[in-house]
Amino acid sequence: MFSKKMNDALNKQVNEEFFSAYLYLSMSSWFDSIGLKGFANWMMVQFKEEMEHAMKFYSYIQSRGGDIKLLAIEEPPSKWDSPLHAFKETLKHEQHITQCMNDLADLAEELKDRPTLNFLQWFIDEQVEEEENDRDIIQRLELIGESKNGIFMLDRELAQRVYTPETD
Ligand code: FEO
Repeated sequence: MFSKKMNDALNKQVNEEFFSAYLYLSMSSWFDSIGLKGFANWMMVQFKEEMEHAMKFYSYIQSRGGDIKLLAIEEPPSKWDSPLHAFKETLKHEQHITQCMNDLADLAEELKDRPTLNFLQWFIDEQVEEEENDRDIIQRLELIGESKNGIFMLDRELAQRVYTPETD
């Protein structure tokens, strides 16, 4: 059975994912405004992935016969002190999303909702990858320090990231 409690918690996650998309779109536009097109591209791919995450939750709720209630999306910041600051905030945000997934899984377990637990597994695995990617870029930005050359080299690399839609 799909409980109202589980429905509401998953519905809230739709909003969390849309906020994530909004945050990364804002970061993309900020990177673009300071001339770092590769970083902007990386964040744009991230934005698209988050939109996909939001829609995965949306479709799952519908597939269980639940109700969707779209909630207001919080306004994200529009400026960061440096690329390193933006990526530290990205990691912090992803750690928050990981906590959301863990809380959702705890609730599904408590309610003995196996299909939801199964659905959440993809996101739990995805969060490991998301946090790893952010930590990797933070580490490199810390090594680069103030070197403009280093930033431009990383910018060129991040320009290569391509959005690949999920097929399932
Ligand atoms: Fe939808 Fe970045 O987690």
